[in-house]
Amino acid sequence: MKKDSLRRSGAIIMARLIVLLGSLSYVMVLAVVDGSLGFFCAMGVTLFGALGIAKILGETIALSLNSIVFMCVFCGVLRGGLKFLEQYGNHYIAFRLLAVLRDRVFGALRKLCPAKLESKQKGSIIASITSDIETLEVFYAHTVSPICIAVIVCACVLIFIGVFSSPYLMLTALAGYITVGIILPLISSARMKKTGVEYRAEFASFNSFFLDSIKGIKDIVLSNAGETRKKEVNSRSEKLLAKTKELKRLTVGAQSAVELVVSAVIIAALIVGIVLLNSDKITIGKMIVGVVAVFSSFGPVIAVAALPSNLTQTFAGGDRVLNLIDEKPAVEPVTDGKNIEYENLEVADLSFSYDETKKVLEDVSMHAGKGEIIGIVGESGCGKSTFLKLLLRFWQKKNGTIKYNDTDIDEINSDNLLDNVTMVSQSTYLFDETIENNLRIAKPDATKEEIEDACRLASVHDFIASLPDGYQSRAGLLGDNLSAGEKQRIGLARAFLKGSELILLDEPTSNVDSINEGIILAALARQKKKKSIIIVSHRESTMAIADRVYQVEKGRMEEVV
Ligand SMILES: Nc1ncnc2c1ncn2[C@@H]1O[C@H](COP(=O)(O)OP(=O)(O)OP(=O)(O)O)[C@@H](O)[C@H]1O
Ligand SMILES: [Mg+2]
Repeated sequence: MKKDSLRRSGAIIMARLIVLLGSLSYVMVLAVVDGSLGFFCAMGVTLFGALGIAKILGETIALSLNSIVFMCVFCGVLRGGLKFLEQYGNHYIAFRLLAVLRDRVFGALRKLCPAKLESKQKGSIIASITSDIETLEVFYAHTVSPICIAVIVCACVLIFIGVFSSPYLMLTALAGYITVGIILPLISSARMKKTGVEYRAEFASFNSFFLDSIKGIKDIVLSNAGETRKKEVNSRSEKLLAKTKELKRLTVGAQSAVELVVSAVIIAALIVGIVLLNSDKITIGKMIVGVVAVFSSFGPVIAVAALPSNLTQTFAGGDRVLNLIDEKPAVEPVTDGKNIEYENLEVADLSFSYDETKKVLEDVSMHAGKGEIIGIVGESGCGKSTFLKLLLRFWQKKNGTIKYNDTDIDEINSDNLLDNVTMVSQSTYLFDETIENNLRIAKPDATKEEIEDACRLASVHDFIASLPDGYQSRAGLLGDNLSAGEKQRIGLARAFLKGSELILLDEPTSNVDSINEGIILAALARQKKKKSIIIVSHRESTMAIADRVYQVEKGRMEEVV
């Protein structure tokens, strides 16, 4: 998919976003009603004013001058309250929905994780969660109801003018509404589309270049590349400024066109009114009321005309959010399956490929039981990590069976599977929280003793205890100061703390020196009585503790004897 093209049409995006309103749609209806009534009140101020003038000019009007003045004031005050209610309703919906959408997007990510997220660009997902959802505020608070209000107000005003004044004036107003509310927005959105897309691309590229420069400032200084980098920042900033100016010029052009057409329609209405009056088709009172109704009714249409400048961004954001919500997970979670308590694992004739072209695993068979440490060796890229991910059902197997205690993996509840099987992957992610909390994600109710024991097993307790704040040190603050080996051992401690019966270790000792490797392996050997452990490793010293070793080669997996 091209980055800047939308998957769905604007109408479909709008329809889908409106469906998301669900039970909040009644608030939207209320906001539209309040908004429309508010506009009628605003028009009421000028209309009653016109009625007053018509009465003074001798037109027979049933209301007294006093009641006309009262109605003017009443409409003005009511207008304020109704506008408040409309805005309150729209923003109530918008921010409630943003919360719902964040929840939906997070839910979608949970389902997609980890398989789909490996191939998805993390950057675009972060953009979706933060700024794209935010842009939808514009849609819910400032797009749907102005359009509905414009349609309602225009229809009522047209009927009013047609009935109380003249059909000719009604047609003049209709031509004005269509030009300002439909034709001009279509023209300006077509003209702004290209520049809008270019502006966004320039804005994104400038932002990422600038952030990248700040992140890499150390290396820029070390390479003495400060001047060149500064020039590049300046030149990109100039380009962004040029695009901003272009976009603003178009926006101002569109606004001026709207003002011009509205003025032209008002003059046209005045001319039509005068001609009708001269040819005795209407009385002066009806002429004034009709022309004033045309004058004062353009507010909602002008609001619609102002939409296109940010609507392109809103649709692009909405499209990306819907993409994420619609994305099908690589594996459907099992919720109505069986729960097991791990005893043994039996894999038979398992085949798998990420895409149809290249088979990663072919007819793989292996087994593991409690009390065993199984080693898996093989060249880089041969499919060892893929095999471990299949055992966790991160991907859907194509052919063959993976059975835990005689139950196929596809029939085991996903949560239950993750309780029974733990994997320590090749890279451990540490959250920006205390080390204790980082460990606790494996077992939220773990006691301090359990946490420390797990760390001792993973040979990382002494290191953590030596930190000034011990287990309360923030992993984020330590950041790059934690060595790869220390992170790896914290990952191992997490797995030990989880206490699953089957532990999958992907290169658990690749960044650990031989002393610590010895400690970890000894801990594993002690654990194995109660568990199965599958270790992937390139290191012979690690493989030495395996009871049986499988070799992966060209997609096949053979037991080495
Ligand atoms: N998400 C993915 N989508 C497509 N191809 C993938 C994906 N993950 C891995 N691969 C490919 O599948 C093959 C097996 O990868 P895998 O990570 O299982 O290898 P490995 O044996 O663990 O290698 P290493 O020892 O370097 O960790 C590689 O060719 C890799 O490029
Ligand atoms: Mg690997």
